[in-house]
Amino acid sequence: MSATSILDVRNLSVRYNGTTCDAVKDVSFTLGRERLGIVGESGSGKSTIGRALLKLLPTAKVIADKMRFEELDLLSLSERQMLDVRGKRMSMILQDPKFSLNPIQRVGHQVAEAYRRHFRCTKAEAREKALAMLDAVKINDPMRVYDLYPHEISGGMGQRFMIAMMLLADPDLVIADEPTSALDVTVRLQVLDILDGLVRERGIGLIMISHDLNLVRNFCDRVLIMYSGHMVESLAARELDNARHPYTRGLLAAQPRIGGSRKPLAVLDRKDDWINAVEPTA
Ligand SMILES: Nc1ncnc2c1ncn2[C@@H]1O[C@H](COP(=O)(O)OP(=O)(O)OP(=O)(O)O)[C@@H](O)[C@H]1O
Ligand SMILES: [Mg+2]
Repeated sequence: MSATSILDVRNLSVRYNGTTCDAVKDVSFTLGRERLGIVGESGSGKSTIGRALLKLLPTAKVIADKMRFEELDLLSLSERQMLDVRGKRMSMILQDPKFSLNPIQRVGHQVAEAYRRHFRCTKAEAREKALAMLDAVKINDPMRVYDLYPHEISGGMGQRFMIAMMLLADPDLVIADEPTSALDVTVRLQVLDILDGLVRERGIGLIMISHDLNLVRNFCDRVLIMYSGHMVESLAARELDNARHPYTRGLLAAQPRIGGSRKPLAVLDRKDDWINAVEPTA
């Protein structure tokens, strides 16, 4: 845990309207200038935590004892104030660029417009800034690609456009929600490399949401394990193999290993008391 925490969340709970149980229940964590992984099965509440931090949950009741981002008390900020925080000081990279890019606007213009949303500048200046950013996320020949439409670019390129758009305003916190799950292995490594560079060079805090244990093990400094809306374990990524919670151990046992035993993989045998957290070790 870093001494200068960017984010401090205490007992965050989220209940979507019309449902009878909490999608996220009493989740607490802090984030320094580090890479924090949040892992857990589908529906365990990972994306809900990200959306709650950005206050993008209009159809849910969000309560928390504390939700501090830098000097801001997120709980008390109005929607109008959040407009200056979202995209500028904290950004979320969403899973699928196809749903996030406007299909009828050229991709480069979308990046430039995102910049103009936060900074007063001419269109020409925004274009310059967007082109520089496309170069920074390693898009080849940015001048040509700038004028393409979303359906004319590949998935990996689309994901890099999303990253470029999220990083334009130099945010201090980036929440990446499964940023690489739609990508092939080579492009995935390039995208992770870009995110890694941001943590190292700009000192941002990064929350990496994923269901890929191997990815967070290799990429993150610390990992939170979510199960059924509860944060059941928090540990240093390098300690993942020594996890104590039965759910985490179950996930690890269900991972295929090259050269490992050819016996059928273990299947999770769920227990009601799994939602009880073990003492965090990190
Ligand atoms: N808008 C909504 N209205 C009602 N319930 C919702 C809504 N969005 C999510 N949920 C429910 O909240 C729970 C947590 O969902 P969430 O999207 O946070 O899971 P997740 O861990 O991100 O899953 P995945 O790995 O599939 O992305 C799920 O049970 C889901 O069905
Ligand atoms: Mg999700």
